[in-house]
Amino acid sequence: MPEPSRRPSMGSSKMQTLQHIAELRDALRQPRRDGKRIALVPTMGNLHAGHLELVRRARSDADIVVATIFVNPLQFGANEDLDSYPRTLAQDQAGLEAGGCDFLFAPGEAEMYPNGRENQTIVEVPGLSNLHCGATRPGHFRGVTTVVSKLFNIVQPDAAFFGIKDYQQLMVIRRMVVDLCMPIEIHGVPIVRDARGLALSSRNGYLSEPELAIAPTLNRVLRETAQAIEAGESDFEQLAETAQQQLETAGFRRDFVRIVRRSDLAPATNADRELVILSAAYLGGARLIDNIEVSR
Ligand code: PAJ
Repeated sequence: MPEPSRRPSMGSSKMQTLQHIAELRDALRQPRRDGKRIALVPTMGNLHAGHLELVRRARSDADIVVATIFVNPLQFGANEDLDSYPRTLAQDQAGLEAGGCDFLFAPGEAEMYPNGRENQTIVEVPGLSNLHCGATRPGHFRGVTTVVSKLFNIVQPDAAFFGIKDYQQLMVIRRMVVDLCMPIEIHGVPIVRDARGLALSSRNGYLSEPELAIAPTLNRVLRETAQAIEAGESDFEQLAETAQQQLETAGFRRDFVRIVRRSDLAPATNADRELVILSAAYLGGARLIDNIEVSR
């Protein structure tokens, strides 16, 4: 059954692209006054079918869909791919408009960080932000929660849509809205994959043809590990190490594979039933992430 759409005529009106906070606030003032429901889809652009799935869900949830494209320097480490991150605005605009998005907010850095990145007030979720991806990428989640708070304050949406692909990011944002009493529903959207199981990602564009042939191994290894857990295996550390070794044999370089509990992303124990396998691995010039939930 398709979900009911709040606005059946998808993509009928033209999307507006705005670069300034004041313009976007002006544009949203009347719809908000009219009681329209507003949904937000934050992105860094270079959109693929995963991002557009968030837009589709937002479209069927709300009257007004606002997408944002901002390659947020605050969430990139010094040695990371901020400069080389793909920027494809014209193509992204076409995809968003076809998906029924009403407004694209695509600010420049000076609009988002008028006092400079280093002077920006910070929003940080303690603890959770320092595990897993946060340990590999110190300061990353602080950059994410800071920019997402700003986008929430700019748009003041009723709901916001995030991918389950970035499992830890979604948890950190859920924690942030609870801790800061932000009246925004957070929706997690299932991972969109290609036919071979590879999670779609803007960073897949960094992969060569031979690397693209290897990349689906990440998801395959996670699925096999999940099956082993479902079949009763409970030596989680050993299972994770075996998965790591399979990835390295396939040609990945190690970041982490961890079997953790869903509630707080702490290492799973035999008493835990609701688990998630989190993974990150380097392949060529890319760092890929994937995850799979498993119940036992
Ligand atoms: P970005 O990597 O562009 O992703 C934007 C949103 O798309 C995130 O919520 C992400 O989880 C989701 N997404 C990416 N690939 C997906 C896939 N294959 N299936 C489903 N959803 C997918 O995540 C960010 O940007 C930034 O950190 C941001 C939240 C915008 C803050 O700067």
